[in-house]
Amino acid sequence: MAGMILMTEATLMTEASPAPAKPHLPDAQTVTQVTHWTDRLFSFRVTRPKSLRFRSGEFVMIGLMGDTGKPLLRAYSIASPAWDEELEFYSIKVPDGPLTSRLQHIQVGDEIILRPKPVGTLVHDALLPGSRLWFLATGTGFAPFASLLREPETWEKYGQVIMMHTCREVAELEYGRKLVESLQDDPLIGEMVAGKLHYYPTTTREASPRMGRITDNLTSGKVFADLGLAPMDPEEDRAMVCGSLAFNHDVKAVLEKFGLHEGANSEPMEFVVEKAFVGDGICSCPRWTVFRV
Ligand code: FAD
Ligand code: A2P
Repeated sequence: MAGMILMTEATLMTEASPAPAKPHLPDAQTVTQVTHWTDRLFSFRVTRPKSLRFRSGEFVMIGLMGDTGKPLLRAYSIASPAWDEELEFYSIKVPDGPLTSRLQHIQVGDEIILRPKPVGTLVHDALLPGSRLWFLATGTGFAPFASLLREPETWEKYGQVIMMHTCREVAELEYGRKLVESLQDDPLIGEMVAGKLHYYPTTTREASPRMGRITDNLTSGKVFADLGLAPMDPEEDRAMVCGSLAFNHDVKAVLEKFGLHEGANSEPMEFVVEKAFVGDGICSCPRWTVFRV
């Protein structure tokens, strides 16, 4: 008898209930904006956990629920500044990438997972005081600088800021170009930026007004000549670097030739480096085991 009642209740529940509500993800945040820049690049904004505090330039783990029911997480630089009410991210679309093959389809109202434990070396605290600050980025390595360019501390601490961003093609520079253009109208930092920012975007595989690798433009002195700046000097210059492993390795060597030394949170020096991603397209190692924070 009891079994019959249970069966009836179960049947009623199934028939009468509407479609099950969308399950809430652990550490869920809601997507508020998505912009596609190219077929390989997009940016998006999400709600910010009330308790999340971070330093402009840091990264967090974000992702989606995987097919196995476990979160599929990847490291992402927060592209918005520490004072922003929302969080912004700038992302690659890897066609077969476990996360971004799905993440690229998110829409406003969807949920993503965000582990609220920010870390990273591209922070002001990791540099000794100086008068000129160089941001050196390739590809999505622009993301932490999208945060730092909108951070008042950047403009309070430095008399000049040089943003060098290099991509293969012109369209890949668009997110950065729009962001840099928006700075002068920013009510918080617009006046602080005036006369201090040098923007130096270059391409390497498509013709554009300025071309060449960051390493080559520093080594040849072209960037100093083009901008009317003195060469790098360890007394005055500080740098933050974010790109592929090969780029980071080569820029580090160039900066060291200018006499700058690599620092860290625990030991501030003249420059700091962060990976924009791991791998060269061949490696399929599950880096979330390495970068879980
Ligand atoms: P994965 O399996 O993670 O990657 C597959 C392959 O795609 C990699 O082997 C690599 O060759 C290539 N690849 C991965 N990411 C990139 C990239 N950003 N640019 C070019 N090629 C790439 N990615 C972002 O898009 N934006 C960020 O702000 C960002 N911040 C990061 C910060 C840190 C500290 C680290 C370590 C990585 C960061 N990444 C960022 C890379 C990110 O963690 C993922 O690798 C990326 O989202 C792709 O995930 P996936 O699962 O689709 O593919
Ligand atoms: P290049 O086109 O000459 O390889 P990628 O898409 O491969 O990550 O490259 C992004 C940008 O970074 C490209 O403009 C690329 O130039 C440049 N780049 C790649 N590797 C290096 C490196 N080791 N040193 C300097 N620039 C690099």
